[in-house]
Amino acid sequence: MTNIEKDVEEVLFDEKALEEILDRLADEIIRDYKDSPRKLLILSILKGSITFTADLMRRIPLPLELDFMKVSSYGSGTESAGPLKISLDLNRDDISDLDILVVEDIVDSGKTLSKLKKHLTERGAHSVKICTLLDKPSRREVELSADYCGAEVPDKFVIGYGLDYDEKYRNLPYVGVLSPKVYM
Ligand code: PRP
Repeated sequence: MTNIEKDVEEVLFDEKALEEILDRLADEIIRDYKDSPRKLLILSILKGSITFTADLMRRIPLPLELDFMKVSSYGSGTESAGPLKISLDLNRDDISDLDILVVEDIVDSGKTLSKLKKHLTERGAHSVKICTLLDKPSRREVELSADYCGAEVPDKFVIGYGLDYDEKYRNLPYVGVLSPKVYM
């Protein structure tokens, strides 16, 4: 087997840069939730956000719970009303007492998160906020802005630190740009 790092064209955020981003995001989240009387639920969206979630939650010394969903979005173009496909759902029915912090690796078109936010709000969550490691605003198709954002990235194929191409490269310890020769 060959080393996957040969397919990385450029490193965008190395481990030190990611640590700085994580520290800043954790500070913002602690500041905003520390006085809340409700339960904080970290809702990690599989699969890409697992690395980010694991590192972020260890920086938040508040009484929080962790859960997972796996979702994807149907609909093309600017269609934002299509259904949300839920492959793995929350493991609880009543979410009315929860402040939900959705943790994502990247916001691209914005469709998945706008539908998920609507879905959780309609299910009765007390509040729903979004924390994303990366944001690609140039790709946005629906109006959606994250409450906490690690960094903006250009419209390039980003991999690593959870993010994949064809299910590979999630195990890179940094965020990089995939060399076009891999998919050309
Ligand atoms: C990615 C990402 C978001 C979604 C963002 O997940 O984690 O969930 O796509 O895209 P959007 O803003 O255009 O809706 P993906 O479907 O690649 O699944 P994965 O995390 O399992 O790789």
